[in-house]
Amino acid sequence: MSVQNTNKNIVPPSEIERQREYTELVRTVLSSRFADVPKAFVHTYGCQGNVADGERLKGMLRDMGFAFTDSPDNADFVLYNTCAIREHAEDRVFGNVGKLKNIKSARRHMKIALCGCMTQQERVAELIRTSYPFVDIVFGTHVTHRLPEFVYRSYGTGKRVFETGESGGVIAEGVPLSRDSGFRAWVPVMYGCDNFCSYCVVPYVRGRERSREPGVILNEIRQAVGEGYKEINLLGQNVNSYNGGMNFPALLREINSIDGDFTIRFMTSHPKDCTRELLDTMADCEKAAKHLHLPVQSGNNRVLGEMNRRYTREQYLELVSYAREKMPGLSITSDIIVGFPGETDTEFRDTLSLVEAARFTSLFMFIFSPREGTAAAKMPDETPHAEKVARFQELERVQHEIALELAAGMAGKRLRVLCDSFGDGDIVTAKTEGNMAVRFKGTPDMPGTFQEVVIEPGDSWKLTAALDGCDK
Ligand code: SAH
Ligand code: SF4
Ligand code: F3S
Repeated sequence: MSVQNTNKNIVPPSEIERQREYTELVRTVLSSRFADVPKAFVHTYGCQGNVADGERLKGMLRDMGFAFTDSPDNADFVLYNTCAIREHAEDRVFGNVGKLKNIKSARRHMKIALCGCMTQQERVAELIRTSYPFVDIVFGTHVTHRLPEFVYRSYGTGKRVFETGESGGVIAEGVPLSRDSGFRAWVPVMYGCDNFCSYCVVPYVRGRERSREPGVILNEIRQAVGEGYKEINLLGQNVNSYNGGMNFPALLREINSIDGDFTIRFMTSHPKDCTRELLDTMADCEKAAKHLHLPVQSGNNRVLGEMNRRYTREQYLELVSYAREKMPGLSITSDIIVGFPGETDTEFRDTLSLVEAARFTSLFMFIFSPREGTAAAKMPDETPHAEKVARFQELERVQHEIALELAAGMAGKRLRVLCDSFGDGDIVTAKTEGNMAVRFKGTPDMPGTFQEVVIEPGDSWKLTAALDGCDK
């Protein structure tokens, strides 16, 4: 079931052009104020969707004339692109912004900007307005493409800039882009979320679901592949509700037919919309990594109902077995929330048994964090925190055992991996098609290339391997 893309609110090209003009104006301001090239420090928190935004923010800053630094200590411009998914995420941002106060008192000209999901919340914007007077620019998720204008206003007037208004969300194409990696590309296919899972802040801070045009997505991917990108990651809070004039499986087939040696990944798939058509397409598409991130959240039907997830434990497990039938060896990963309001110990046991049945390659586990404005934040929650922590640890133990068994079962397998880094002891880190981390002895030229390795036997869930040179 997909939601109609009725409110496709594309930013007009004239507005993107206006931002290019601001970019040039900022360039002039910067060259008159700085003897050397000014440096920007940009840090992104949260999901890959936010990382993709961060790469556009960096693209705009680069075009304005900034170079980049990896520390706020010597930065002239600091930008935190924030995440609001759990309280802990917000606390980290506030902690780091607090530290900037001292740095700024020694570097008075430094500009501090905050954007992303946190600042889209009125409560947070207000708190920054009143308690963090040293923050110069605050903007929400719907006006990211207007960064050049905000920077210009800040340098021009010296006054604080706040742009955090509500919106159903927009699609901004043609924004400059500076990718963090030379071989892993993040490509949003849709923005926003209409699912309103009862615990989740995303629909409030990211607006309604809206899909990018297939032609725009395909061009972005063709260009990335042409530049040598080896892994194309298609992003959306629920890629299965992609609706840009074709559905997600159709888009996947189009991408698969682009020439070149690259892998396609996508995330996230919501189980309620993960159709057999999608799984069949994934099986057919040779470039689609046989890895499915399918967040289950809970193994108990009452809790799933309260979460507004709109599938049952049985439907989820059926989906898992269909997917594995179609793609033997498929790696499935998931997300789980422990200690949702009212979750009993017996209900938590259902989550444990689901995890045992599903045998996830890896699992992202979270303790429920109440988010203001969501339905779950108002639900009575009597389980003591210590009890939630105990459940979390038990789940970790169960998953750890499974990960150990899965890793042991990999010994002797020959796999094609994409290398990430080269470091101490000539160790290359890489990712398998199933998104498992693996380490082996290699050479400095390997990051960003595919290599064939053979997994070595071991007693850890961390895979080690040897380069497979025997039959070459
Ligand atoms: N769109 C994705 C999830 C994005 S958020 C999906 O529907 O699967 C990533 C993960 O954060 C979620 O899967 C969930 O496990 C976790 N999460 C979201 N809100 C949370 C909250 N309030 N407390 C704890 N974990 C949360
Ligand atoms: Fe949040 Fe649910 Fe949307 Fe995922 S599908 S972003 S969990 S509301
Ligand atoms: Fe966080 Fe916003 Fe992503 S809340 S998880 S950065 S959509």
